[in-house]
Amino acid sequence: MTRDIYGKYGDYLPRILEDFSQKIQEENSRSKTETGYKLYEHFIARVKAPESMEEKCQRKGLPVTTESALKSIRDSIGVRIICGFVDDIYNLVDFIKGLDGISVYNEKDYIQNAKPNGYRSYHLILEVETPFEDCLGNVPGAYFIEVQLRTIAQDSWASLEHQMKYKHDIKNPELIVKELKRCADEMASVDLSMQTIRNLIQTSTEEETK
Ligand code: GTP
Ligand code: MG
Repeated sequence: MTRDIYGKYGDYLPRILEDFSQKIQEENSRSKTETGYKLYEHFIARVKAPESMEEKCQRKGLPVTTESALKSIRDSIGVRIICGFVDDIYNLVDFIKGLDGISVYNEKDYIQNAKPNGYRSYHLILEVETPFEDCLGNVPGAYFIEVQLRTIAQDSWASLEHQMKYKHDIKNPELIVKELKRCADEMASVDLSMQTIRNLIQTSTEEETK
């Protein structure tokens, strides 16, 4: 039997993803029952297709090996969490950081520090301890999970910008880049207003119950 780039470790990836997803989804249910607030709107999880991983290794000039796929590249397992409000993102990041057997390998706050093109998101690369062997022969094995946390507005911008990235034959690229950046900034300003409105509602209901 011929194996893909993940080798025998490919069987573990969906199980590691499922285990992590369950923890987040349980916390969301808990929050909904206890406080009436959900922690996020949408939860998307995927294992990167072996062909895409092979292509990524080649693009990055890495040998097309299991070790490149699981150790040098760290998004074989990926989760995207779409939140209603910016504060929800930071609350979820704190929750994730507190989970047992999980440590933060790398963290990028593209919300506080938007990319020059306007991209906003909170990125975590997590290193998780698992009962499975990893490709270096360690048991318990260490695996990486990439988590992207975004507001609905940040996600819609990123999806549309991603679609348009592949159009290389545009006549006026500078104008497009500038207009996309303007949209990202306007959407960020709407996120800020929505957060302020929610804070106002929360403080006024707290006043009432005093
Ligand atoms: P690689 O994707 O592994 O090359 O990661 P990197 O080192 O460039 O890390 P970064 O955290 O900047 O990006 C990781 C992922 O975030 C990307 O694969 C995209 O899914 C997303 N991302 C980063 N920048 C952008 C952007 O400008 N636009 C969009 N649409 N997505 C982005
Ligand atoms: Mg990626």
